[in-house]
Amino acid sequence: MKVLVIGKDGQLGSELVRVIEGSRGTSRQSGSGIFLDLTNLNSIEDIIRKEKPEVVINAAAYTNVDGCEENKREAFLINGKAVGNMARVCSATRSYFIHISTDYVFDGERGNYTEDDIPNPVNYYGVSKLMGEAYALSYDDSLVIRTSGVYGIKMNFPLYVVKTLKEGGTVNCIDSYYSPIHATLLAEAIKELIEKRAYGILNVSGERLSRYEFALKIKKTLDIKSGNVSLVYSSQNLKARRPYDSSLLNEKAKKMLSTKFYNTDKALEYMAKYGVVR
Ligand SMILES: NC(=O)c1ccc[n+]([C@@H]2O[C@H](COP(=O)([O-])OP(=O)(O)OC[C@H]3O[C@@H](n4cnc5c(N)ncnc54)[C@H](OP(=O)(O)O)[C@@H]3O)[C@@H](O)[C@H]2O)c1
Repeated sequence: MKVLVIGKDGQLGSELVRVIEGSRGTSRQSGSGIFLDLTNLNSIEDIIRKEKPEVVINAAAYTNVDGCEENKREAFLINGKAVGNMARVCSATRSYFIHISTDYVFDGERGNYTEDDIPNPVNYYGVSKLMGEAYALSYDDSLVIRTSGVYGIKMNFPLYVVKTLKEGGTVNCIDSYYSPIHATLLAEAIKELIEKRAYGILNVSGERLSRYEFALKIKKTLDIKSGNVSLVYSSQNLKARRPYDSSLLNEKAKKMLSTKFYNTDKALEYMAKYGVVR
């Protein structure tokens, strides 16, 4: 099956092109794969029409939450309008479209959000991703995957925890909850979802954890003797608000998939063995 991964250099994108055999990916770095800068809306159509993929997976996004708050136009273009173009071209070429979205479409006041809960983003990243969802779902053969706390090749919370502990420092965990997922496990789940040709909205995330619980679990499982973990109540001076509990319920995906995508122990096994991703 011909699969085109948009954003092959990201945490998830890099795992998708590794896990899905024969897939090709786009990059905004020239000389690395198929060049695509999403701010050039016309080139999205050119590339999909040229590549003729049966499946398009959009793993690219403007993921810097504070950056989106400051650069709303760019966030709207990359996380919103560009997704609209992908959906429109996929509809014309009858390609199956998988778009990755976020737990940050919710305000985080309750947690354990299902696919049917009403989004209410508290920052512009969440607003722009919600617009992307609406664009993706305007095409009937599309699947929006909501996920949370993806950890892979880039600096992320688990990597910060490991690095800080190994240096003998203190990990400051802001009091908040989410459902972190290992990029390899998410990519494996997406591979299975292509076979199922699921559509609509689906939560694919790890188990609900506070950042404090997660840091302690990492320390224990990876048997790191140095360093400390502490809980911080006052949030830092960030540009964008963060939801307090953006955890997602993943029961629907658990019933559909054989992959144990939600299993934190399995994710930490990968971390212990390979660093962060395989
Ligand atoms: N990370 C999380 O905690 C998290 C949580 C929930 C949902 N998600 C969602 O999961 C998906 C994957 O996230 P991730 O962690 O893999 O993100 P990531 O590592 O930040 O990767 C995003 C990719 O998008 C590319 N990109 C950004 N702007 C672009 C542009 N103008 N043109 C072309 N490519 C562009 C980046 O290119 P460069 O490599 O050149 O910068 C990067 O490769 C995203 O949809 C994100 O919203 C992530």
